[in-house]
Amino acid sequence: MSSDPDYTDAERLFAARPWIGADAALPEAARAVPTMLATEETQLYYWLARHWAKGAGVIVDLGSFIGGSTARLAAGQADAGRALPVFAYDNFTASEELKAKLLYPAGIPPFAGNDILLEAHRLLTPWKPAITLRQGDILEQGWHGEPIELLAIDAAKSAALTDHIAAEFFPALIPGRSIVIHQDFLHRVQPWLPAQMTRLRRYFKPLSRVARDCVVFLCTEVPSPEALRDARVSELSDRDLARLVRTAASRYSRMAGRYYFASMVRKINANPEERIAWRMWRN
Ligand SMILES: C[S@@+](CC[C@H](N)C(=O)[O-])C[C@H]1O[C@@H](n2cnc3c(N)ncnc32)[C@H](O)[C@@H]1O
Repeated sequence: MSSDPDYTDAERLFAARPWIGADAALPEAARAVPTMLATEETQLYYWLARHWAKGAGVIVDLGSFIGGSTARLAAGQADAGRALPVFAYDNFTASEELKAKLLYPAGIPPFAGNDILLEAHRLLTPWKPAITLRQGDILEQGWHGEPIELLAIDAAKSAALTDHIAAEFFPALIPGRSIVIHQDFLHRVQPWLPAQMTRLRRYFKPLSRVARDCVVFLCTEVPSPEALRDARVSELSDRDLARLVRTAASRYSRMAGRYYFASMVRKINANPEERIAWRMWRN
């Protein structure tokens, strides 16, 4: 088993990007699970599960698709000689277009229909006892309260879901220990993410940007239910949302150029009152 990372100086540890190349050890079974993640993101997931998560809490993967991120998390645990529970949430469906683009080229045999839950179960068999797949709309699901050491968020595709995820999962974070991976933090069609984390800045320290849009945070203090209510982003006016995005531009200037945040503000202006990512199509 590996020694503990320096939990007291996460900023310095993450600045060194210790996950780069970590996936050289990734087992073939995990590599074989198709993923939408960028290469550096897959390295991050594997490294976090292998070297950071030591059992203070469980692992939660919000937006697993067919299990690619979940496999990297579970493999990291297994390769460290641990088997923390990994809870993976998704609708577990794929359109014909996604099947043709991502699944068949990765060697998944063609299948009828859009349900990919069975295939996800099959691909995740090597780590199965540790993995629980929760199929359905995350907006209608909750968390039972067990502490969470790693929380990967790749499903905050609407402002309402972003608020729901915070209300359900953030209270289970562990100060000084829990990592939140915001997969789409810099994506221009999800301006509610920097808005929310700007409102919650007292409780989270940004540690690193990974690949294009992903930003990793350390939870430094658990936000109370009142703080989470005050940090809601789904009822914000366009003006207040844009104002928070501009504040985020200063706060995250070390990680991303102002261009990213200016694009978000342009998207808000071009898509008034829209709070669902895939509908923010006007430029
Ligand atoms: C970018 S993909 C996740 C990619 C995945 N982490 C991987 O490694 O390939 C985002 C996922 O979020 C899921 N998702 C989005 N909104 C959701 C919701 N309201 N409930 C459940 N799943 C949702 C989608 O089904 C999709 O699979």
